[in-house]
Amino acid sequence: MEKLIETEDLYTNFFTFEGVVRALNGVSVVVNQGETYGLVGESGCGKSVTVRSMMRIVQEPGKIVGGKILLFLSSEDRQKGIDIIKRSEAFMESIRGDDISMIFQEASTSLNPVLSIRDQVGESFLLHRRGELLEETLKQLADELKSNGFPLAMAWKGFQRWLFRRELESLRRYEKHVKEIDRELYELEEKTDPRSTRRKSSLNARRDRLSEHDFLVSAVKKSPFLERYYKKIHKIVENKIIELLKSLGVPNPANVLKSYPHELSGGMQQRIVIAIALACNPTLLIADEPTSNLDVTIQAQIIELIKMLKENIITSVLFITHDLGLVAEVCERVTVMYAGDTCETTSVKELFKNPLHPYTKGLLSSVPRIEQVEKLHTIPGTVPNLINPPAGCRFHPRCPSAMKICAERKPPMVEYKEGHTVSCHLYPGEEV
Ligand SMILES: Nc1ncnc2c1ncn2[C@@H]1O[C@H](COP(=O)(O)OP(=O)(O)OP(=O)(O)O)[C@@H](O)[C@H]1O
Ligand code: SF4
Ligand SMILES: [Mg+2]
Repeated sequence: MEKLIETEDLYTNFFTFEGVVRALNGVSVVVNQGETYGLVGESGCGKSVTVRSMMRIVQEPGKIVGGKILLFLSSEDRQKGIDIIKRSEAFMESIRGDDISMIFQEASTSLNPVLSIRDQVGESFLLHRRGELLEETLKQLADELKSNGFPLAMAWKGFQRWLFRRELESLRRYEKHVKEIDRELYELEEKTDPRSTRRKSSLNARRDRLSEHDFLVSAVKKSPFLERYYKKIHKIVENKIIELLKSLGVPNPANVLKSYPHELSGGMQQRIVIAIALACNPTLLIADEPTSNLDVTIQAQIIELIKMLKENIITSVLFITHDLGLVAEVCERVTVMYAGDTCETTSVKELFKNPLHPYTKGLLSSVPRIEQVEKLHTIPGTVPNLINPPAGCRFHPRCPSAMKICAERKPPMVEYKEGHTVSCHLYPGEEV
């Protein structure tokens, strides 16, 4: 399988007043092209911080302090990947949404309460698929201009076409420049000599300064009467939103468009959040606990929806949950996390059949079974405070198999067998 995104020994800290929260302690995960990959672990183990780091949207006072995040989006990047930690913010803006979209934990808080659903989903279309929309608008205008109409109306359409063309040309010019800069940065990535370093910072600064907007079109968009010309594209966007909402099982989408988040149920809000993520046409969809706070029937519907999207629309899904049942239902491969560490990565089948890490074993034996008569197993102790995490293996104070070395040395990640890696001193092997 080809990689899509990889974190290599990733460290993220939060510099708070109480001290440094060491949230990620060398996290290494890989999401491959075409797979549904799960990230599972107790609350506070660093699932959200891992994916926020991947998108470089860690909230203040958080900071990525070590490691690499490699992206393998195009065939040209496959060789070594693009290390996005080294790239400019403008580069990240072009990745977010366009290539990687995220459904945030708690739909209700990720929607803007003062904007209608049309504005929120529409913004996603206009930001990330402007080229496609402009082409469609121009095609429509070309057809309309072929027919006969009032000279004034035709002149207005001609003016609209001129403006849309200008906007599209400016966007394509911008995309071309950006591509050239990104290619040169990719070639220079490994080089650390002073000349290459200077060139890299000048390229990053140039990329940040580039604008995709045409000054004249921007001025027209701000002028009181002429700005109406843009309604044409809004109409196209509206039709696309209706189509998208229909495909996500939203009943009566034309009405839902006009509503505000507080007028919708939790399940419907979650569908809108999914629509915003999908409007960008991403390669990777990150779903951060997309069913928390939903009742079980709505949960089942959202899970079915994500499975359907994976089959038909999106290439890869990174699914975050603390529910092992959902992992079994949705994912193909999974990583178990504990207190900012990656414990074990394998296929879902293997995880349930042959768990290796004592924490994974503890998690699995805490899942209630129908035939169970004895008391439900729990993992003794609590998740450690990450300002002062235990030395060595962070799980050692709770681990039934802990040894002396566990409190002294962090276990390396080793390949136990093909496709099954584990980080625990009980399993010596070749470090990966
Ligand atoms: N803004 C912040 N400031 C300080 N610490 C933070 C912040 N955000 C996260 N953390 C800390 O980082 C660690 C990992 O948090 P994270 O949100 O990734 O957990 P999670 O696995 O997603 O948990 P949950 O299942 O509850 O969503 C936690 O110890 C948390 O306290
Ligand atoms: S390294 Fe030691 S403490 Fe950690 S999980 Fe393995 S046996 Fe337990
Ligand atoms: Mg979380």
